[in-house]
Amino acid sequence: MTDLGPTGATAKNMAYPANAWYVAAWDHEVGRREILARTIAGRPLALYRTEDGRPVALADACWHRLAPLSMGKLIGADGIQCPYHGLQYNSAGRCTSMPAQQTINPSAMVASYPVIERHRFVWVWTGDPMSADPAAIPDMFQLDSPDWAGDGRTIDVRANYQLVLDNLMDLTHEEFVHSSSIGQEELSESDFAVTHDERTVTVTRWMHNIDAPPFWLKNMRDRFPGFEGKVDRWQIIEFQAPGTIRIDVGVAEAGTGAPDGDRSRGVNGFVMNTISPVDERSALYFWAFMRNYRLDSQLITTQLRDGVHGVFAEDEAMLTAQQIAVEANPDHEFYNLNIDAGGMWVRRILQRMIEAERRGTADTPAFTAEAVQ
Ligand code: FES
Ligand SMILES: [Fe+2]
Repeated sequence: MTDLGPTGATAKNMAYPANAWYVAAWDHEVGRREILARTIAGRPLALYRTEDGRPVALADACWHRLAPLSMGKLIGADGIQCPYHGLQYNSAGRCTSMPAQQTINPSAMVASYPVIERHRFVWVWTGDPMSADPAAIPDMFQLDSPDWAGDGRTIDVRANYQLVLDNLMDLTHEEFVHSSSIGQEELSESDFAVTHDERTVTVTRWMHNIDAPPFWLKNMRDRFPGFEGKVDRWQIIEFQAPGTIRIDVGVAEAGTGAPDGDRSRGVNGFVMNTISPVDERSALYFWAFMRNYRLDSQLITTQLRDGVHGVFAEDEAMLTAQQIAVEANPDHEFYNLNIDAGGMWVRRILQRMIEAERRGTADTPAFTAEAVQ
């Protein structure tokens, strides 16, 4: 039975937790000897790699006069030099050289954020560094597992990150937004189940004995040439707080046991999504489509990536338009339907995280006023 979750008015333009791992970039975007400027969870960052390849994330504002370090240059084994008056910092953010004077002011430093490279992404912890636990990085193992193949892209989406999470937690929108590729009316007609715990929400939907929509028919024929007939289709959406959603998707020849675990007569993909708030009005939406069949086909990898890119462009257009309407109607609350049950649990988990952080920040020096406003 569908769990309707919390009801009532729903906040718009949600804030975001600071104590979290967010993806700042794909691994290949952080180059060996160049600096990438990115803002994640309201924090402007200068991202680079040390000479031995370790990713670094420093606050992108020099201690002296706040010039962006990302406009500077890399120095020595792990350092960066401010482009304005030449102060140098090491990867821990400590100033190591002041060109115009011999004595280095001991307070001269910039924040160095915990960084971990995992699952093809560079993850940054934007909150209290003492609580940065690598085990809390969301599980996205399909991205670098030899049993899965695929690729993805990034969407610079001009919408609050929660709108993206809402979009992914309820896929009935496929029927209307993606009618030429993955949409079909059975999406809205079929029942779904929602489960949740402190940090995760799962929405499960099965559609039995239906026609495969164009995207899935093509994939079935890639694996089973000449396939005709009905399929059982599944969508299992798994949210990991605060911004990661993996969606186990696929179809199998109808009646061959897929709902009971036998997917051997089907095709299976994982839509890997992780959304990093930039600020309250925009987000970086990193996604990839991974599959576990025809692993050696670069052609299928490219076709799937480009196909999903086209589908997600339809979402981006909707999310951008939605954000504009949200801002034009500041007094209008969101109303909730049955289909929002998963998204509402996501919002409740995030609200709890944000409130706990606000309560606990008074005596935590790692938080700045701007983080707890
Ligand atoms: S602003 Fe960086 S050295 Fe002056
Ligand atoms: Fe969509």
